[in-house]
Amino acid sequence: TQTLTFLGLESSCDDTAAAVVRSTPEGNEILSSVVAGQTELHAPFGGVVPEIAARAHAEKLDLCVEEALEQAGIGLDALDGIAVTAGPGLIGGVMSGVMCAKGLAAGAGLPLIGVNHLAGHALTPRLTDGLDFPYLMLLVSGGHCQFLIAKGPGDFTRLGGTIDDAPGEAFDKVAKLLALPQPGGPAVELEATKGDPKSISLPRPLLDRAGCDMSFSGLKTAVLRARDKIIAQHDGLPRAQRADLCASFQAAVADVLAEKSRRALQDYLAYAPKRPALAVAGGVAANKAIRASLETVCVEFDAEFLAPPLRLCTDNAAMIAYAGIERFRAGARDGMDLAARPRWPL
Ligand code: KG4
Ligand code: ZN
Repeated sequence: TQTLTFLGLESSCDDTAAAVVRSTPEGNEILSSVVAGQTELHAPFGGVVPEIAARAHAEKLDLCVEEALEQAGIGLDALDGIAVTAGPGLIGGVMSGVMCAKGLAAGAGLPLIGVNHLAGHALTPRLTDGLDFPYLMLLVSGGHCQFLIAKGPGDFTRLGGTIDDAPGEAFDKVAKLLALPQPGGPAVELEATKGDPKSISLPRPLLDRAGCDMSFSGLKTAVLRARDKIIAQHDGLPRAQRADLCASFQAAVADVLAEKSRRALQDYLAYAPKRPALAVAGGVAANKAIRASLETVCVEFDAEFLAPPLRLCTDNAAMIAYAGIERFRAGARDGMDLAARPRWPL
């Protein structure tokens, strides 16, 4: 493996990001990783507005690239290639990124590599820990929820995923129902520390169904019903009951993810020649109760548990630069006809 230095660009949702990653035979180094969020821009609308996101990406990409190169202390001439998220995601944002990357690649005469955003997340444990293929990956964020067996830089087998909401989305909606701030995940987790996870009985959706598919929208509806029952009884939502609801909801999500992880590990064992490994990525992987229950499952299977640092679990461009390096090493090259793909299953 030769030493490669790539610039990565990410703009598929509501984070504009640029990063420089160097990969050498000795290991990988993140020379810089700049992430510019847009939370304030979308806050008044209660969700990501695609047009606002696209405009903000177009405005901020150049600045993020400049800052990433400056922090890395290198110029475009020191790069071996440009990697960019080419999908899946919001089309306007993905197009902004692809256009920017094409301009840089053409201007500097560098190879261009289009990266699947989900592959970026799924390859992160190799960037951070040099994890060998094949490993099991659980992506859990506000937008994604799926189990993948990672067998190669472009070779993923999907074992199952959510059939409706992603868990982060459910955390956000539950926070809204309980008048807690956004993003809901951290707020619900904090409230949950003050509540009893066994106090309110909530469903564990799809556990009766074989396989690794999951569902979280019914759980959110169950929280709504339980909330309204409490409000009717108490003529309001007392603090203690709100904490109990948060704890019970979080426990239900953790139980579902743990049980489905058992099944995913079982399926993946057929591919695992050595000690099995389960890696997580996505904002929900920050949740301590969820992490703890996944770790318990890994102990049952004598599997290694890997959770990259949070800034690399959530959307960033270092994972895109690194995925670009892996694809480049595997011989991938894209041309100026690289298209933005709003839908792009792995
Ligand atoms: O990966 P991410 O930053 O963005 C994408 O969705 O792509 O994930 C954000 C999601 C949000 O829904 C947020 O509420 C959730 O991750 N999240 C959490 C926690 N921290 C963030 N969910 C549960 N517990 C947390 N501590
Ligand atoms: Zn993501």
